[in-house]
Order: sequence, then structure tokens, then C-alpha cells
Amino acid sequence: MKSDSIAQNVPLSGRKRSLIEDARRDRESGSSSPGPSRCGDSFVFEEEKTGKITLNILFALKNEKNAGFFKAGKVFETFETKLLHLESRASRKSKRSSGEDLEFFMRCEVHCSDTDIFINSLKRVADDVRIVQEEKTPWFPKKISDLDTCNHLITKYDPDLDQDHPGFSDSEYRKRRGFISEMAFNYKHGDPLPVVEYTPEENATWREVYRTLRSLYPSHACRQFLEALTQLESERLYGEDQIPQLREVSAFLKERTGFQLRPVAGLLSARDFLASLAFRVFQCTQYIRHPSAPMHSPEPDCCHELLGHIPMLADQEFAQFSQEIGLVSLGASDEDIEKLSTLYWFTVEFGLCKQNGAVKAYGAGLLSSYGELLYALSNEPQYKPFDPAETAVQPYQDQSYQPVYFVSESFEDAKQKLRRYSSTIQTPFSIRYDPYTCSMEVLDEPSKIQNALGQMRDDLKILHKALGRLGQK
Ligand SMILES: [Fe+2]
Repeated sequence: MKSDSIAQNVPLSGRKRSLIEDARRDRESGSSSPGPSRCGDSFVFEEEKTGKITLNILFALKNEKNAGFFKAGKVFETFETKLLHLESRASRKSKRSSGEDLEFFMRCEVHCSDTDIFINSLKRVADDVRIVQEEKTPWFPKKISDLDTCNHLITKYDPDLDQDHPGFSDSEYRKRRGFISEMAFNYKHGDPLPVVEYTPEENATWREVYRTLRSLYPSHACRQFLEALTQLESERLYGEDQIPQLREVSAFLKERTGFQLRPVAGLLSARDFLASLAFRVFQCTQYIRHPSAPMHSPEPDCCHELLGHIPMLADQEFAQFSQEIGLVSLGASDEDIEKLSTLYWFTVEFGLCKQNGAVKAYGAGLLSSYGELLYALSNEPQYKPFDPAETAVQPYQDQSYQPVYFVSESFEDAKQKLRRYSSTIQTPFSIRYDPYTCSMEVLDEPSKIQNALGQMRDDLKILHKALGRLGQK
């Protein structure tokens, strides 16, 4: 996973990111239309010494020769509204009818004393006017189906936009990648994972990558990776002839660590990607790199996911480590998300660990890159012991090899260190994952904590009884 700044790299247009957090806030607010606003109530976000407040407003306009647009503009002019941000999109309601109406998201500054009359005036010329409350805590998925909305992509390495992508000038490749991405866009939680009928050329690319990397694994990969890879091969899920299908690989993981896969259309934002891990869901691309550069892909592809990530996610300790990074990310500030995604970068993507006196690779970015795997385990790069506080602020490279790698004593050691680091991240609540309902429980009431403790007591009784039985033998 690349962890670029979302704000810098995601264009605010199209399906990839539109009306910013509108959809999320809609859901949280129940899409209800508030009544007249009052200065000082929960619809007001800022009150400055100037007597002005900042409002976030959603409204819809019918496309009757733009008359609504001009009328709304007149309202803003009349109240000397200062426009801070504006976005538009086709109305979701009008898609079911004419398909020509528009919805607007506007952030604007208005005189505090004018707020009520300003909102009421806008309601006379626009439909579905809603003042949207700004959330202090960033939205996060509460149940596993909420991951359907965790689909914000970073387009920095998209072959349609990145001129350095090997497939940039290959329209057939871009069309094929677009087709596979579309399946991921349409996927909803609970659907069967899409099966991709890979072409002979795509399977040939996989074969070349598989053979080349496979030759390095015995000497360079960590024990846990090799054990899982051997198992995947012995169950004929992995081999050099065909690209494995997510559906079968997901079932393999689910049996071992409870991790499951879901398809993703491209490079996901750090916040969405980390949130998925909290549910033991790994977002996986299904398209493959361009055949002209089988040993290089600027973006994650199925070679990276299947060879780099999947074997490690079959290990219990590593799966727990991955989920814990995800859990810490829920509701975290943008600053902490950046730190956590950097931590993820230097562990899950580019991590090294000690085993039997030697340094081995466990990071997916290494295990899916022949060149960097050789480089990382050579004498060239600098090694540092894994220390979350230092790792979280280490500058990283996403276009060339890392100058520094962090070496863990073991996954257990890394997990303990991560737990200590996590306790320093400020969130207004504690969260517990309920594996029975696949949902997050915010522990904000004594009864919820008591209920969780009750479940733990029951588990302890079972363990105590088991220990007693062992002692009798
Ligand atoms: Fe990755």
C-alpha cells in the first residue's frame, strides 16, 4: 500500500471522490433536513470574533434552464455570503428521473445574525437544503458492510493518469484494467468474489513474476511466509501457470486466520485501507501489471497482493499485528493516520525480521519485488531496530528502494511494541471488535464494558478448566 497524502493526490471529481465526505455525513445525520438554524446550536461550526460563522450546506437544484442556480446565487449575494468551497454532482434522486438535476456542497461564511433567514431564503429556491454538521471524530466503518463505502482511491499511479506507468500508452491494457476495476467498484459486501477469466498473456506475465521471485524465497523470505506459500502450492491454489482467484484464496485465509479478501479498484486511501484491516478484511486488486515490465509495477497489482501479502496474512501472529494497526486507525486524526500508514509501510510492506541469527523479509513490497528483495538483504541499506515511535515518522520512498529498513525481533515483539505505541494515540473512545457480528463496539457506556468483561470471564473459565484437565493427566 502506498500511503501518499490523500488531500494532495486525490482529484475531487468523478466517482473516485465526490462531494468529499457528503455520503458519510449523510449516513451519520440520517439525511434529515434540519429546521431553521439558530446561532449557537449544533449546526454552527465556527463563531469568530467578526460575528461570522461557517456553514457546510448541501442543497439540490432542478435544471430548469439554470434558473434555480441563479436564484440561489442571488440569495448568497444578498446575504454577503463568503464562498469557501463548492462542489457539484448529478443529483442521486434525479438519476431515477430526468438525470439532469444537480446537488451542491458548499462551505461558506455568513453573518451570525443572518443565519436563520439565510437558510430559509435558500430553502425557497433550492430543494433538500441540509446543514451538515462537522464531525470532530473522523467517520469510520462500524460494521463490515460499511466497507462498501471505504473506496476512496489515490490516483497518483493510475495508468490513465500517470505517464510513467508502463501501460499509459497501451489503450487495450487500460481498457482491460478498467474492466477489472469496474467489477471491484460494483462489488458489495456479501457478493461472491468476482472471478476474472485471465487471458493467456496475463497468465504469462504471472508465470514470469512467479518463477523469478519463487527462486529467491527460500533464501530471503521469513519462515512464516515460506510455510504458507508451500501450503498454498500443495493445495494447488498457487502455481506458476495460472493467476490464483481471490475467491479461493480468501477461503484459504478465512480458515487460517479469519482474514478475508474483497476486490479493490486501485490504490486505496490510507484511512480506508487501514479501516478494512480492523475487520480482518484485506482489499485486493485483481488486475495485473503491464506485460512490458513484469518485474515492476508502480501501483499494487495481483502479483503484489497474491505473492507479497497473502502468505503472511495466513500467519496468526502477523494477522493479529495487521488487525491491530487497523483498529488503532479507527477515528484517528489525519496526523495519526499518516503515522500509522508510515508504520504500515515499514512493517507490512517493507519489514524485515530476525530468524535464527539471519535477517529475513516479511514485507509484501519486498516479497513482490525481485530487485528490492535482493537490495534489502544486501549490505547496502541501513538497518534500524523496529521502534514504532521512530518508524512512524521515518521518511519513505515510494518511487525507489528504501534507504532504511526496520528489523523486528519477531512479530510478537513488534505487536507488543505497537500496542505500547497505540496507547499514545488519542481517540475519544475505546473500540472493541466483535467477531460474531463483524462489527465495532464503541465502549462508551459502563454496561458495554461490563458485557465485554462478562464474555472474557466465560472465556477464562473455559481456559481454567482446560488447564485443570491438563494438570490431572
Ligand atoms: Fe501492499
